[in-house]
Amino acid sequence: MSQTSSAATPPGRSAPWWRDAVIYQVYPRSFADADGDGMGDLPGITSRLQHLADLGVDALWLSPVYPSPQKDAGYDVADYRDVEPVFGTLADFDALAERAHALGLRVVVDIVPNHTSTEHAWFRAALAAGPGSPERSRYVFREGRGEHGEQPPNSWRSVFGGPAWTRVADGSWYLHLFDSSQPDLDWTNPEVDAEFRDVLRFWLRRGVDGFRIDVAHGLVKAEGLPEWDHEQALLDGADGADGPDGPDGADGSARRPPMWDQEGVHEVYRGWRRVLEEHPGERILVAEAWVSPPERLVRYLRSDEMHQAFNFDYLRAPWRAGDLRRVVDATLAAHDLVGAPSTWVLSNHDVVRHASRLGYPAGSEPASGVGPDDPQPDAALGLRRARAATTLMLGLPGGAYLYQGEELGLPEVTTLPAQVRQDPSFARTGGADRGRDGCRVPIPWSGEEPSYGFGPGSASWLPQPPSWRELSVAAQSGAEGSTLELYRRLLAVRREHGLGLGALRWVDLPGAGPDVLAFRNGDVLVVANLGAQPVAAPAGARALVASGELPGGALPTDTAAWFALPA
Ligand code: GLC
Repeated sequence: MSQTSSAATPPGRSAPWWRDAVIYQVYPRSFADADGDGMGDLPGITSRLQHLADLGVDALWLSPVYPSPQKDAGYDVADYRDVEPVFGTLADFDALAERAHALGLRVVVDIVPNHTSTEHAWFRAALAAGPGSPERSRYVFREGRGEHGEQPPNSWRSVFGGPAWTRVADGSWYLHLFDSSQPDLDWTNPEVDAEFRDVLRFWLRRGVDGFRIDVAHGLVKAEGLPEWDHEQALLDGADGADGPDGPDGADGSARRPPMWDQEGVHEVYRGWRRVLEEHPGERILVAEAWVSPPERLVRYLRSDEMHQAFNFDYLRAPWRAGDLRRVVDATLAAHDLVGAPSTWVLSNHDVVRHASRLGYPAGSEPASGVGPDDPQPDAALGLRRARAATTLMLGLPGGAYLYQGEELGLPEVTTLPAQVRQDPSFARTGGADRGRDGCRVPIPWSGEEPSYGFGPGSASWLPQPPSWRELSVAAQSGAEGSTLELYRRLLAVRREHGLGLGALRWVDLPGAGPDVLAFRNGDVLVVANLGAQPVAAPAGARALVASGELPGGALPTDTAAWFALPA
């Protein structure tokens, strides 16, 4: 077992590390491949951690590395206390954590409590034990409808397409909000809760600094599993107000989907918080909860629950000044209610990379997956806006999440042929949902040929486009104006000026119209111009960092910059 302790808190700093942390998501399949099998692994990640330290982030969040048949890229967990052999061993995990801590980086791991894999020992036992058994009561088994039980128990649909129920050999059905290989656990069964608290302890003892909770809003279902006959998509969130039915509650409000954001989930996280508090150090729980409005989301962040939640409203906001300002205001106001820091995020392994998403007209940004026959993004526009969007984001107070490769300006790979796509949502919808593979293509590190340093040879589980040669870490390091150097500079200035612990105050810039966002955060002025006309920087302001050129000191369209104001 790892003997390393968490990274030390620097002297003179009183706020807990996570309140303003920039956390970098490592997607293990695609980060770095030490053994050359085309699939990333833990020794690969460890060998590349210096990149994260050089970038200037505070922590890494590791997507799941547990033993898994990889039907959903590791979010189908067969054993929560071990490492998938393709990724390495527990000793490799310990080595990774030790190296990260030595570099001053915290380590957050992913926990997947909504469902297990069908390969998990519990599910195998449930199948073997048969209907009505205690083994089955850890999952959501029900009898079907219809004369012979041949119809699913209710109308719920899987997020990945198709029905949310699968029938087993003896005629019972089990619930899976995701792929049929991901049976939902029954969180009303105390054994389930006890097991997960023990799993948390297992990883806390190994020295992890926190947990990202997968589908945190899904664990508890409404009693009786009431009907919900609507298409599901992760990105839709659990906002009853947007419910396809429109208002239908007694008070005229929309009904909340019965599988998301139910009251009972909060009790689970209160229990988990107590587990964390049994352990020394500042360890955190982070909610992946597609919940809005923000007043609902921050209920996960009450002082006895989680520490942070992903701000997907920000990720989903169109590239329009008014929309962004509304989201920022609503976020800050809601988080203030519970005294939690807000977070900001633009990309992750489930959505179209923002360098491509923003290459579509504002308001028509695609959510998940683009295929070769779909309208293609304007790559130059997308990158320009992505750089501005990140410059805006990292100027905001609170924490921020980065997704591996965004610091290189990597675009979504939109041209992947059907036969290489592996996301279950692609197959389950007959290709109608293009799936998330396009944001999961292995990272280019160096060199002239694929796999561009991802592994020792040419193998990579998804093919990398030839254009990625110019986007590699080596190609961008030290190159003036590169996206990598922009991120490094942003993170350095952010740290130096304490922007993550700052506060935002909107500013009216003289001559700037409604398409310009400008705010003060501490002694820094952040300006983003989303309009067509250039905007002059305030007199005497000194540019600290900018997403693009500032001809004559003015910000052209789709450019953001940070300025030091004259004393
Ligand atoms: C989360 C993950 C996603 C996964 C799903 C089911 O949303 O981020 O990748 O497919 O949960 O576990």
